[in-house]
Amino acid sequence: MMRAKIIGTGSCLPEKCVTNKDLSTFVDTSDAWIQSRTGIRERHLVSSEAETTLTLAVHAAEKAMADAGICSKDLDLILVATVSSDFITPSTACMVQKELGAYHAAAFDLNAACSGFLFAFHTVDAYFQAGICQTALVIGVETLSKIIDWSDRSTCVLFGDGAGAVVAKASSRGMIASLQGSDGSRGEILLCKNRTNNNPFVSTGKEPDYLTMDGQEVFKFAVKKVPECIENLLGQADLDLSQITYFLLHQANHRMIASIARKLNLPMEKFPSNVDRCGNTSAASIPILLDEMHRTGKLSSGDILLLSGFGGGLTWAASLLEW
Ligand code: COA
Repeated sequence: MMRAKIIGTGSCLPEKCVTNKDLSTFVDTSDAWIQSRTGIRERHLVSSEAETTLTLAVHAAEKAMADAGICSKDLDLILVATVSSDFITPSTACMVQKELGAYHAAAFDLNAACSGFLFAFHTVDAYFQAGICQTALVIGVETLSKIIDWSDRSTCVLFGDGAGAVVAKASSRGMIASLQGSDGSRGEILLCKNRTNNNPFVSTGKEPDYLTMDGQEVFKFAVKKVPECIENLLGQADLDLSQITYFLLHQANHRMIASIARKLNLPMEKFPSNVDRCGNTSAASIPILLDEMHRTGKLSSGDILLLSGFGGGLTWAASLLEW
C-alpha cells in the first residue's frame, strides 16, 4: 500500500526578530520570566503588510519543492494547516496554488490548531493509501501575531509567526503509523472567536476577540496526552522508544517538552527544539523544526522519527515515519 514519504522540506520566518527584551518595552514582563517559564528567547513576527500568511507559505513551499526536485505542475494536492489565513475565502491553499501555478492540484485548508500540520499530513497519507493522488504539498503556516492581544503579557510572549512545508510522495516507504484525536468538550481552554456577526438583527458593536488561554490547563493536557499518544502509536507499530531517532514535538514551550521527555524517561538530546528562537508558531512549528533538522544534516536516510502535535480544539496527533 502506498504511504506518504517526505521528499523535500522548506521553511520561512519573517525578517523581524523580536527579543524578550523588546517585548518588555511595551508589556510588564522580563527576559528572565519568559526564559524560565517557556525557554523562549526570541521569535519572528511579520513587520510589514508585504509579509502575510500567504507570502510565508509560498516561500516555504518553493524551498520544499526545490529540495524535492519537483515543479509545481507535479503537484496534485495542496493542504494548508492554519488558524490565521489572510482570507476566509479563498483558502490559503487555493492562493498558494495560484502563486505556484500548480494548476493540477486540488487545494484546501484545514484547521486543527497546533496539531494542524500533522492532521494535514495524515490526510495526505490517507489520500495516497486510497490511490487518489501521488504528490502533495503540505504547509503549516501562521501569522498568529494578528490574533494576539499585544497588551496581554500572559499570551503575547508565547507566540511567533512562520511557515514550514513538506513535499510528500506516494511510496512503499515513509509513513509507518499515525493517530489523532480531539476533545471538543475542552475547547474553551484555548480560544479565539471569529469576527462578530454584525448583521442588522444581532449587531453587538463588539470589538474583535483575541486569543485567550488557560495556560496551566493547556500545560497539563499536553504533558498527559502526548506521552499517552506516543506510547499508543508505538504499540500500534510494534516499536519501542529506543528505536526512535528523534521525537519532534510541537514547539510550544521548553518546560513542556522537558516534562514529556522526563515522563518517557528519555534524554533531551532525543527532543530537538527551536522554541528558544521561534516561540510557538502553532501549525508551522513541526515542519519548521523538521526543515532545520534536514538542512543542518541531522537526519539520515532510515532514521525513525516520531512527530507529535497538540493544541487548540483540543486536538492531538502523532506520526511515526521513516526518513
Ligand atoms: N511576564 C511576567 N509575569 C507574567 C507573565 C509574563 N509574560 N505572564 C504571566 N505572568 C504572571 C502572572 O500574572 C502571575 O502573577 P501573579 O502570581 O501575581 O498572579 C504569575 O506570572 C504566574 O502566572 P501563571 O499563569 O501561574 O504562570 P505559569 O507558571 O502557569 O506559566 C505559562 C504560564 C503560560 C508559561 C504556562 O502555563 C504554560 O506554559 N502553559 C502552556 C501554554 C502553551 O504552551 N499554550 C499553547 C499550547 S499549543
